Amino acid sequence: MTVLLIAVYFARLVVTKSPHTDEENLSPYRLPDAISPVNYQLTLLPVIEDKPRLCGHVWINVTVHSSTNVIILHGQILPVETVVYADSEPTDDNGASRSVVEKLCFSGVLATLEQLNDDEPKARDDNDIAQSVHLNEDSEQLIIILKEELVVGAYYRIGILYLAEINDGDNIGFFRVQKKNEDVSNCCPQRWLGATQFEPAHARKVFPSFDEPAFKATIGLTVGHDSVLKAISNMPWKSSKSLETVDDWVWDTFETTPAMSTYLLACVLSELEYLETSYLSIDGRNVSLRLWTEKPKFNQLDLAYRLVPRIMETLENYIGIPYSLPKLDMVSLPGYDLARAMENWGLIVQRWSDIWLNEGLATLFEGIVLNRIAPELGVDVITVLFFQQALFHDNMNISVPLNYPVELLPTIEHKFDGFAYAKASVIFRMVRSFVGDEAFRSGLNRYFNKFQFKAANSTDLWIILTQESRRTSTMSSRKHLTRIMKNWTDQSGYPLIQVDRNPDGTIQLTQTPYSDLNMHSLDNVTETASWWVPISMTNGGDPKFSLKDRLPVVWLTPKVPSMAIEGPNDSNTWILVNLEYSGYYRVNYDPLGWELLSEQLVRNHTVIPALNRAQLIDDVFTLCHIKILPYEVSLRLIEYLAHAEEEPFVRSVAVGHVGRIQQMMEMQHINNDYLTNMVKVMMSYIVPSQKTESRNFYSTDIDFRCLSEDDQCVSRVLSLFHDFANGTETSAQSRLMKNHFDHVWCTALRHGGKSEWSYAWNSTRAPSTKLPEKRKILKAMGCTADVNRIQQLLSRVFLPSTSQQPIETSIILHSLAENPSARSSVMTFVMKNWAFLSKHFRNPALMRDLLVVVTRHSSSIAELRKVSAFLEQKAKELGPGITDLIVATISSNIRQVELLKLDFSYQGLIHDFSNDLTQVEQISLSEN
Ligand SMILES: *[C@@H]1O[C@H](CO)[C@@H](O)[C@H](O)[C@H]1NC(C)=O
Ligand SMILES: *[C@@H]1O[C@H](CO)[C@@H](O)[C@H](O)[C@H]1NC(C)=O
Ligand SMILES: *[C@@H]1O[C@H](CO)[C@@H](O)[C@H](O)[C@H]1NC(C)=O
Ligand SMILES: *[C@@H]1O[C@H](CO)[C@@H](O)[C@H](O)[C@H]1NC(C)=O
Ligand SMILES: *[C@@H]1O[C@H](CO)[C@@H](O)[C@H](O)[C@H]1NC(C)=O
Ligand SMILES: *[C@@H]1O[C@H](CO)[C@@H](O)[C@H](O)[C@H]1NC(C)=O
Repeated sequence: MTVLLIAVYFARLVVTKSPHTDEENLSPYRLPDAISPVNYQLTLLPVIEDKPRLCGHVWINVTVHSSTNVIILHGQILPVETVVYADSEPTDDNGASRSVVEKLCFSGVLATLEQLNDDEPKARDDNDIAQSVHLNEDSEQLIIILKEELVVGAYYRIGILYLAEINDGDNIGFFRVQKKNEDVSNCCPQRWLGATQFEPAHARKVFPSFDEPAFKATIGLTVGHDSVLKAISNMPWKSSKSLETVDDWVWDTFETTPAMSTYLLACVLSELEYLETSYLSIDGRNVSLRLWTEKPKFNQLDLAYRLVPRIMETLENYIGIPYSLPKLDMVSLPGYDLARAMENWGLIVQRWSDIWLNEGLATLFEGIVLNRIAPELGVDVITVLFFQQALFHDNMNISVPLNYPVELLPTIEHKFDGFAYAKASVIFRMVRSFVGDEAFRSGLNRYFNKFQFKAANSTDLWIILTQESRRTSTMSSRKHLTRIMKNWTDQSGYPLIQVDRNPDGTIQLTQTPYSDLNMHSLDNVTETASWWVPISMTNGGDPKFSLKDRLPVVWLTPKVPSMAIEGPNDSNTWILVNLEYSGYYRVNYDPLGWELLSEQLVRNHTVIPALNRAQLIDDVFTLCHIKILPYEVSLRLIEYLAHAEEEPFVRSVAVGHVGRIQQMMEMQHINNDYLTNMVKVMMSYIVPSQKTESRNFYSTDIDFRCLSEDDQCVSRVLSLFHDFANGTETSAQSRLMKNHFDHVWCTALRHGGKSEWSYAWNSTRAPSTKLPEKRKILKAMGCTADVNRIQQLLSRVFLPSTSQQPIETSIILHSLAENPSARSSVMTFVMKNWAFLSKHFRNPALMRDLLVVVTRHSSSIAELRKVSAFLEQKAKELGPGITDLIVATISSNIRQVELLKLDFSYQGLIHDFSNDLTQVEQISLSEN
């Protein structure tokens, strides 16, 4: 939700790479810059019920920069009539446009279209300088050849009457969605609603336009629709008129937008209803906020209703610039989860070269804003997730640098899928930490004020931030962000910082490119990469973690990748580098360094902040996975978890890593006592004992569900479940059930028999089961280990009587994909039923996500072959980005399994875990 809001907020500043460079003009898909639009007057008549069709007319007011006799713009439409006038007569109130559009859609003109399209002589119009119009379907361009050259500096008016499609499959362009009737009686016909999705480049499917972000113009929209529907667009409603020939249809006209990119235009036609609230903008205006959804779902808007106004206020206050539009509407489309719907509807992503700038800022702000208004939602959790995601993906030799020229990418989509958000936000977090919060804030304020409604690029921002950091003396005058940032944005990957103690008491800091191939180094490209690395640092003698203390004490640079600096007075105290996860790098310490940190954690872990604890755990396990460190170091570092009251998100980082080791072992049938014992000990540390469990709330990670198939735990959970199912539970049990719903159901369905399964299956179909509960049960059913039940759950989507919603299918498939017993069936299922599922989801992005999810634990050569064959077959549909990601993930898994096997096939290093284990068991017994 906040991602959406912040994207909306930032959308008024559209960051673009200017189109005016020679290099880019070489691309056949980019428009020439001889002319640019000033204003669109757009009249749309989308017919979404019967014989869906869209009729439209647009007047585009353009200005001429260099002489030309051809106008090229985007259009995946069928032009019916095109004119170009040299006059600058202002158009009337669009009465004429409405009339002709109405005629085109409703007066049988459609039938004679073929004829219209023939080169029959037009009535003579001396003012019209258009000679002919050509549609280039490959480049999605409309080419208008003129009778004369355009005059530089003059304004012209292009008028196009056209037909376009209502998209019925994918949710792009102007599309329609059928509103499911959740009413059991099924009394009433299902109604369609219409909506637009123009980002990144689908506006051209709905109206002829200069459909690149850098071309900004004001847009006046008039849309015609059945009056039972309500129309909303970016701007407030202005006026309505009836259609001339169709009863009960109206034209709604909206206020003209500020100058903006075409992809930002949006429109929804629906019977949804809204909750209204508002907030006071820093410029004194009361800005109206409306949240639209189906009436029965109003209760789900509760959080949004409370938070949205505060988010907007906080954003404005932080940057010091008011939101520029008069109102904000947020729409949740039916059939979608709230979060997903909003993302689909409003996450305004601009997928050109510098787009990461906008998105990275938006994502970073999500953190800053959340932290201020709702710290209880846990911004640290998000930070850790982003860091883990970015660091994990950015070393797979497939990630493209943030600033990769868009022309070189096979598809625009490739540019901004998945991890790039995470990386961009993390990079900005780093910038904020080394220029300081004050410089960052005032820099952004200046940047947004200066470039509002204009095109800007990252260089502009770096220049301003450099000036601000000099003003606040946070960076020396010899440093410049344009130079510092180049290596972070123009190359993929990140450094590993090695921290060693020299015998003379100094500390040696060294950067090398991080690579998960460190063992058998193959990649000569990244091996030579280097960065400007800000090193923030503290030590056990005087631990400090404030914002100010996070400023770098020293920089490693491409020229000086290694240096010695003065150490703490006490050489036997710990050193910690990269405070509060601010730098985009991993850190490794010498053995004594790790040991001193582990000791501190055992002694008093809160001396080191939670974010740093999460980071230490993530770094140490990652370095162990790639064999830079032996697993004993991880084991020692997480020992403190056995007794500490630790934040769930920190614990879950450890759970994730140990789970990964376990999963690899399970899937690859690695049977090794040493490894098994080690994992057991790790588990005993990270799984809370009875005592702490009651106080904390844990995520539903599979590894928390009666770990290691502990019989006692399972029978406790089963009896709780039985009492609940039979309605004989006590109030204490009922509370337990409520607090541990996921855990209890998952365990009961994994270890239970036919009666538990039937109970769950029937519960998902009972009208009395509430929607959120039903979804939780479906998720828990994904825990089953029984082959037949897995098949039954997978086939649920085919049952006509169930009419399973896409969101439910998604929940089931995701849950099964994380279940080792079901993983391979679910992968096969998805591949086999690809066509069916594509139709079911109607959303290519969801399908791509799904494929990533069901393949991400594959770790054998056979699976790689199978998946590759499938990817090859679907190459065109999926695009190379996703193919590369999946293949790289599986390859990395295979490598890791090999490393695991290697490590534990020789017994030289063996340390006897059985002692530790007995100790731990004794401890937890005495606690019980
Ligand atoms: C086109 O835009 C220019 C600049 O805003 C304006 O002066 C002119 O009147 C406009 N022409 C039409 C036909 O709207
Ligand atoms: C950014 O824009 C400036 C002009 O505003 C230009 O000089 C510079 O080369 C651009 N930088 C990039 C990375 O496109
Ligand atoms: C990497 O090494 C290979 C083999 O030595 C060589 O052929 C290739 O050109 C190198 N790549 C780069 C980018 O240096
Ligand atoms: C990193 O940046 C420095 C200059 O700041 C440059 O000399 C070096 O080539 C860059 N390294 C890479 C791999 O881009
Ligand atoms: C642990 O460290 C924190 C932070 O320095 C301190 O507030 C707390 O009192 C310490 N706890 C103990 C038991 O020493
Ligand atoms: C009800 O309780 C009985 C006895 O404990 C048990 O066997 C049965 O499975 C329970 N019913 C359900 C639906 O769990």
